[in-house]
Amino acid sequence: MLVLALESSCDETAAALTDGPLVLAEAVRSQVDLHRRYGGVVPEIASRAHLEAVDILASEVLEASGRRLADLGGIAVTQGPGLVGALLVGMSFAKGLALATGLPATGVNHVKAHALAPFLAEAGDAPPPAPEFPLAALVASGGHTSLFLMEDFLTFRTLGRTLDDAAGEAFDKSAKLMGLGYPGGAVIERLAAQGDPGAFRISRPMLRDGLDFSFSGLKTRVADLYREHGLEREPDSGRGLCDLAASFQAAAVDVMAAKLEAALKSTGARGAVLAGGVAANGALRGAAAALCRRLGVPLYAARPAWCADNASMIGYLGSLQLAKGENPLTPFSEAKTRWSAECPA
Ligand code: KG4
Ligand code: ZN
Repeated sequence: MLVLALESSCDETAAALTDGPLVLAEAVRSQVDLHRRYGGVVPEIASRAHLEAVDILASEVLEASGRRLADLGGIAVTQGPGLVGALLVGMSFAKGLALATGLPATGVNHVKAHALAPFLAEAGDAPPPAPEFPLAALVASGGHTSLFLMEDFLTFRTLGRTLDDAAGEAFDKSAKLMGLGYPGGAVIERLAAQGDPGAFRISRPMLRDGLDFSFSGLKTRVADLYREHGLEREPDSGRGLCDLAASFQAAAVDVMAAKLEAALKSTGARGAVLAGGVAANGALRGAAAALCRRLGVPLYAARPAWCADNASMIGYLGSLQLAKGENPLTPFSEAKTRWSAECPA
């Protein structure tokens, strides 16, 4: 089914044209440059920027794929979780388009959609993998960090979640504390590659303590070490900064890998899924690959471009929902700033 998909939950406006898991065209406009000077996403600026981009990106993907509205089978849009004003832009556009065209539309859970990103493919790729369920899925992003048991692509059970900061938030806040700017994930990874992960002692929060996470203590420890060791006097990419980045990253990765392993073992899941913005991190991907090899289960990791927010993952999950008539979008559908992956609507 050809689906026009829209994503506007945070600071990326995205549109895609998908046919099941096949991505025919996609476009993303990142707002990172607009938010950088504030050190984080400013909701009002995000909403305005989505408004300026959403229709342009929708036209772009139709044009790039050589399709017209009349070719579509449905519309999919992120309904939550996310920033309310940002979500409303994509949803209002989708509602208007659905009313004007008579196409069915569905509201998609952004966090669930991240977990489907490893199963997307482009023309010319090998066919997307058909996994054996259930799968243990780690979705780690700037806004969310959760472990799920995926009974199929539509049915999720929450195994654990962060009790405070998301993993990406820990990367972003630590980078900010270290004077490295925003967003922090990629810059920490770059510095960490030149540092010694054993240089600073950082404890692994809640390592053997169930499947929930806690990341807020990590940034406090980073702040203390940064101050104690006078790292504000270091040049860009100095030895101490690289060591601190490496030590922080190792702690965050160890916790995520240990919880994914515990989830696999406690559920007997047949494979692991790694998705969300933080899944672009090479150290996390390496750790997840190593543990899956050790346990003899396949790892399905989203390719880095699809780890970040995108509309293709919304299109794929949306097509499955449309086929089942799940969570139809009506003119009265509301944006859900919080939305458990377990609830279909
Ligand atoms: O999934 P995403 O694009 O947006 C949300 O839904 O939040 O994730 C963005 C998050 C940011 O916190 C960013 O710092 C983090 O993903 N991130 C990374 C890396 N690339 C992006 N974290 C660690 N290592 C990376 N290479
Ligand atoms: Zn996301």
